[in-house]
Amino acid sequence: MFKEIKNKELIKRLLAILKVRDVIDSAAALEIIVTSLAAILKSTNMPDISTLIKLTNFAPLKSLASLPQKDIFVLEELVTHKQETLALEDIFESQIKVARLIAPANRKRLAAYYTKPIGLRLMALLALEYAKRYERPLILSDPFLGSGLTLSEAIKELPPSHINKIWGIEPHPLSALVAYSAVAHALKGEYQKAKIIVGDAFKMVYQTPTSQSLLSYTESYTELSKEMVPKANVILTNPPFTRWEILDKDYRVFLTKFVQKLGYDKYVKRRQQNLQLISLFLMDYLLEEDGLLVSVLPVSTFYTLYGEAAKALLKDKYWIQAMVDFFEPSFSIDSGFKELVLIANKRKTDFETAFLTIDSYDLNLLEELSNIFKGARLTNSRLNWVNISKVPYPWHMNWLTLFGQNPLRELITKIFAQAAKRGVVATWSDAFNEKRIVRGIEMYGPEFFLIPNKYWRIVAENAEEILIKNNDTEMELHIDREFITPALRKPELYVDCIIPLVKHYFFSIPPKNESELPPDIAEYIRWGKLHSTAKPAVRAFGRYWYSHVNRQINVKKPFGRIFLPDKIDPSFSKRGVFACYTQEPLTASKNFYISTFNDDLKDKALALWFNSSLFIAYFIVASRKISERWTRFLEEDYLRMPVINVNLLDKHALQELANNLDKMAERKLEPLVFQLWEDFRLEMDKTLFEIIGIEDSTILRELYSLLKNVLCC
Ligand SMILES: C[S@@+](CC[C@H](N)C(=O)[O-])C[C@H]1O[C@@H](n2cnc3c(N)ncnc32)[C@H](O)[C@@H]1O
Repeated sequence: MFKEIKNKELIKRLLAILKVRDVIDSAAALEIIVTSLAAILKSTNMPDISTLIKLTNFAPLKSLASLPQKDIFVLEELVTHKQETLALEDIFESQIKVARLIAPANRKRLAAYYTKPIGLRLMALLALEYAKRYERPLILSDPFLGSGLTLSEAIKELPPSHINKIWGIEPHPLSALVAYSAVAHALKGEYQKAKIIVGDAFKMVYQTPTSQSLLSYTESYTELSKEMVPKANVILTNPPFTRWEILDKDYRVFLTKFVQKLGYDKYVKRRQQNLQLISLFLMDYLLEEDGLLVSVLPVSTFYTLYGEAAKALLKDKYWIQAMVDFFEPSFSIDSGFKELVLIANKRKTDFETAFLTIDSYDLNLLEELSNIFKGARLTNSRLNWVNISKVPYPWHMNWLTLFGQNPLRELITKIFAQAAKRGVVATWSDAFNEKRIVRGIEMYGPEFFLIPNKYWRIVAENAEEILIKNNDTEMELHIDREFITPALRKPELYVDCIIPLVKHYFFSIPPKNESELPPDIAEYIRWGKLHSTAKPAVRAFGRYWYSHVNRQINVKKPFGRIFLPDKIDPSFSKRGVFACYTQEPLTASKNFYISTFNDDLKDKALALWFNSSLFIAYFIVASRKISERWTRFLEEDYLRMPVINVNLLDKHALQELANNLDKMAERKLEPLVFQLWEDFRLEMDKTLFEIIGIEDSTILRELYSLLKNVLCC
């Protein structure tokens, strides 16, 4: 008991000196510190902590000098005891455990989700193969070190003679201490080769001590941050994927400047920033020519707009040897992010990239993959070889489509390559000068702003007004049509008709005082105020909260005749249409993207394109699954995907497409798989194929049978 109390005091002082302020279990933190010190003493061959404090070059250990002597004694006792039983697994366990000790908010902010054993194994094998090829001892680094797992696991594989230096940067002092102990231990007596810095990697490179740091305590070790880190031959890492919005504003400003200072802004087309992208820039900056980069990255890097900059950098300077996807969602412990491992060699070649999916049992496959340096070319049904500088344009926007064997993807590639010769199919942004696509209306409370809703139904309509009734109170209100506008509500409501049956209205109330509005509108506003349904709008817009739809209508004018869903079930098991078409321009909720050319024939031709088997097949391959059921396309995706350029078609072609759309629009459309080979679809697809330049009639049959396979499973 006495010992426990004494330890409590010791823990407090020890954590304060090490500047560890955010652990959720101090006793567990002490255990980790003791294990780390025991491992460090063992690997450095130093007799005791006092000697270690004198001789070490690792800042947190130096700081232990300010511990009272009595604490050093207790610590010494604990460490000596631990040394007697210390096993390799204790060090590995500390490396895993330490992340879970960090208070959740800080853990999230640091993205302290360390790499899983399968990723570590892959990195270690690759480092070993690379080392064999390289003639001089290597400098290995992880600028986002965590508890040092990537480096320590790789060092264990490497003969000491292959290592020149190991360095890593980590802002969390406790993780950095664990990393130091694991790396020193793995270096088998050559601990002087390790340089571990507690700090912020971006600041280290930028070298401005006045700029904002990621966490306040990193400031305390700036004396070390002035020291330059040498460029590395091998970087093994898993950078922080912290969401941009949760970083401090000043830190975001600093990072933006950082990108400019290092000259990477030339890759960034849009202002949109992202921490993993900036981390990739940093890694590139720190990597020697011909160096090896193995990094876990979120898959979103390879399909989002901000990811275009990452892809541009990689295409510009690297041979991407492989992209490795994992059947499990994540390569990082406790992380929900869908991730992959990028393996890249910093030299420009025309060699192909292996796009491979692995599962946890694939250790043999990993070994084979590491032979990639010897020019080995694996074959496997889960592997696809691609020359990334020649990716066909329909797949540019989403490299995840390139994984594994996929006959449907190959056929679509062939179709688009043929269509390119006639030149009437291009990406949306290349085809149309103006954007011509607008997202529907943000709702901030659909149960208030849309009618009918959970609380109100429409009981009568005429040319001037609608009559609505409250489901609980049966109160009736007359709503003048001036204050409502018909709108498509959500894609699930319009699955079997090209022309949707629109039964919803948006309330579009001008920003006037309630006394200036008709009494029934004012009454509806009063009802909304009393109910939680309008809360999101009240919170977001204040005084004239009820007018935000009206404002959006006036400002962004979200009207059109073609309605593209933002999220659907890609199995099409309950869906016979993709895009809806309306005779008159209408609006929709934010669940749709709206487009219009204000030209009857062009709008119909475009609506047909989005319901063609070719486009739907493309959508199934190119869209990204956000859950088991849902697949999403954003505006940026629509702008980068292939589309028929209706501006280049002559009147006759447009008329033919429009006729086919009219025929489809007359029918109730069954789920897509049942439409394949039906006359109306066959005729429509044939017409489209002729117009875009696909003459071989067997191609459509092949498309149908591949689509059928996909839709049936
Ligand atoms: C996803 S973890 C990976 C850790 C380790 N590389 C691994 O793979 O197990 C990201 C690490 O980066 C660290 N980190 C976050 N921001 C950093 C920064 N600005 N500079 C250096 N490291 C940072 C976090 O504390 C965390 O340990």
